[in-house]
Amino acid sequence: MSIPDKHELSTLSFNTLSVHGGNEIDKTSGAIRTPIVMANSYLLPYDPSTMDWSDTEAPSYTRNSGHNQICLQRKLAAMEGGEDAAVFATGVAALHAVFFTFLKSGDHVIVGDVTYEAVWRLFAELLPQRYKIEATFVDMGDMEAVRAAVRPNTKLIHTETIANPTTKVADIATLVSIARQAGALLSVDSTFTPPPFFRPLALGADLVIHSLTKYINGHGDAMGGVVVGSKELIHHVKADALVDLGGTISPFNAWLITRGSVTLPLRLRQQFATAQVVAHYLAQDKRVAYVTYPGLESHDQHQLAKAQFAGKGYGGVMAFAVEGDPDAQNRFVSNLKVITSAVSLGHDETLIVHVGGSGRGGAERYPLNFQKYGHLRLSIGLEDPEDLIADIKNALDETFDRS
Ligand SMILES: Cc1ncc(COP(=O)(O)O)c(C=O)c1O
Repeated sequence: MSIPDKHELSTLSFNTLSVHGGNEIDKTSGAIRTPIVMANSYLLPYDPSTMDWSDTEAPSYTRNSGHNQICLQRKLAAMEGGEDAAVFATGVAALHAVFFTFLKSGDHVIVGDVTYEAVWRLFAELLPQRYKIEATFVDMGDMEAVRAAVRPNTKLIHTETIANPTTKVADIATLVSIARQAGALLSVDSTFTPPPFFRPLALGADLVIHSLTKYINGHGDAMGGVVVGSKELIHHVKADALVDLGGTISPFNAWLITRGSVTLPLRLRQQFATAQVVAHYLAQDKRVAYVTYPGLESHDQHQLAKAQFAGKGYGGVMAFAVEGDPDAQNRFVSNLKVITSAVSLGHDETLIVHVGGSGRGGAERYPLNFQKYGHLRLSIGLEDPEDLIADIKNALDETFDRS
């Protein structure tokens, strides 16, 4: 099947789109999978002197738009229900592309008080100090606090759907109405909640960002990022942040992510179901000090998560700690045999990382349990839940028998 045009792509059901979107039959070889086009430059028209060198529509130069990038962008735009998409070398490059494109000196931004570390530093230090952009960090579980933070110069509200690492859930529909009233854009980092699980654009968000490094590629072997939105907003992102900053994804990584995303809906279904089982297991073991996961009734926003994600699940990431000091956390992790100690999330294999009590922004922005025990961030993979639970149980037995 050759790649349908954008209109046709959006008519496909999600599983079909995941298989066929972004793929086209190669005209020269007849190969039914799009090849990796490792070329920096594309053949120019008869008179290139009239061309717009910032054009990103037709392939001309791979920093602007290579063939594999274009295929991936069309697929991701259709998956998120947006008109267009811009892909980047990493998730952070995609986030920064949004901030660089839509903010200027004197503008104000409202950001979740728990957010990915790089975003935290961008708004706490780099953008205010270097470019005089003002930022207010707000609890995204408290919509009144968000409303109260709006200023006349608020141009952007930025949130994660489920915050990394506290798993706090943002109420996207309410944020849309606050942003509209404020005349600001709403950008949503939906890395923890990829489509078809959740689509913030359908609720009225202006821009959706993903670290493609995580669930969308899903195999832990390629980094990437994407911004999805209207044709007009994405045109600005491409013109300002892609062409002139140049954080372009390589053709090989774009190809790997196009391939990885074929199994996205199947992987999400299994990972999110297993996460629910593992979270319940952790919650009932007395040697576990706490566990925070939106699928547990003890989670502050369980009801919001249930409604917002329409009962389809609660993501694949949780945070917890075992009883004891930081070394108890390290002993527990080192006793795991199936689960791997490594950063990142949304991979095919289950990953755990002992992050400690505070990120770059200091411990006080985390809940009390995080401050007291530190936290282990657990990202559930595709292994059978029985094996993960057996691994956790063995590691708990070994950790607490020895102490
Ligand atoms: C929610 C979230 N957004 C963005 C990023 C950054 O993505 P990348 O590592 O691809 O730059 C991460 C990475 O962990 C993340 O968890």
